[in-house]
Amino acid sequence: MGRVFKWIGFILGGLVGLVALSLVVVYSITEAQLNKTYEVTVSPIAIPTDAAAIERGKHLATTVGFCTDCHGANLAGQVFDEGLLVGRLSVPNLTTGQGGVGDTLTDTDWVRAIRHGLRADGRTLIDMPSNYYYYLSDTDLAAIIAYLKTLPPVDNELPSNMMGPLVRVFMLQDPSLLPGQVIDHTGPRPAAPRVAVTPEYGQYLANACRVCHGDNLAGEPGAGAGQNLTPAGNLAHWTEADFIQTLRTGVTPEDRKLDPELMPWDQVGRLSDDELKAIWLYLKSLPAVSSE
Ligand code: HEC
Ligand code: HEC
Repeated sequence: MGRVFKWIGFILGGLVGLVALSLVVVYSITEAQLNKTYEVTVSPIAIPTDAAAIERGKHLATTVGFCTDCHGANLAGQVFDEGLLVGRLSVPNLTTGQGGVGDTLTDTDWVRAIRHGLRADGRTLIDMPSNYYYYLSDTDLAAIIAYLKTLPPVDNELPSNMMGPLVRVFMLQDPSLLPGQVIDHTGPRPAAPRVAVTPEYGQYLANACRVCHGDNLAGEPGAGAGQNLTPAGNLAHWTEADFIQTLRTGVTPEDRKLDPELMPWDQVGRLSDDELKAIWLYLKSLPAVSSE
């Protein structure tokens, strides 16, 4: 008997040791990733101040840019995922109010953050989908920054980030959670397509749909994830009118209500008919990829 207990004791002790060791490894790898600095030459872009540019920036930021989805409807930030295992991630207040970054960021800092996913000191941001904004044209990125600069100040001090063990394991599984490390900072940016009802312009607009629907838009696994938008998915049975109607009302042709907390249809639904038609043309042109 005594022997058996001794062995159980050894095994349990060994397991606890292993878990502790893996935690130490996960912490040291992710700390190194978080503290790594990236030397990037940020090409300056002139930020316009005219009403048309600001309107364009607002349109992009509050629809297919999905800035409001994470930074809050008034872009004054919010706190994500509190909990010991996951940790805490503050999505910054982008206004000039108290706790906001609007007063401190230079034009170059804005570009570095949105296009390169990097802080002013060169470290990567966490979970800011800059890898999908890298392809925004200079004109559109400048318009978004122009709009952000006009935001009314909102006081919202946010707590500092705290990365829990679970989120660190996610970081190892999905390197794009640290956008600074996956972006090719000197990579070419294709010229922005002409604004028109074309699959090319649809692709440009639908870039950030990939944050939730996956890189190939064939959906992400797991509950609450974006569904397959390629012709292998449910959309094969829809018409263009069904697609537009779904994003305007949040109700699919199958009479399924989309949860706006999961699928920001209210934001996408503010696109113009022509913009939605362009996205539809692009989705139709995709190769049919099965989700599983
Ligand atoms: C999926 C959620 C998400 C979306 C969508 C998103 N952001 Fe962010 N953003 C974040 C998070 C989280 C951080 C802070 C990360 C950190 O502290 O490491 C951040 C950081 C930033 C920063 C850096 C601020 C600073 O402290 O220097 C800027 C600027 C920014 N976002 C602008 C935007 C703009 C503009 C858009 C839309 C084009 C956008 N974000 C869309 C989550 C998001
Ligand atoms: C923040 C994450 C997120 C973003 C960004 C996002 N989606 Fe979704 N989408 C979802 C989720 C989650 C669902 C499933 C929602 C549900 O079942 O309630 C969904 C469902 C859909 C559906 C319904 C599909 C079906 O088979 O019924 C369509 C259409 C859709 N999204 C289109 C888009 C388009 C187009 C974009 C980009 C312009 C986009 N989504 C961006 C998360 C997202």
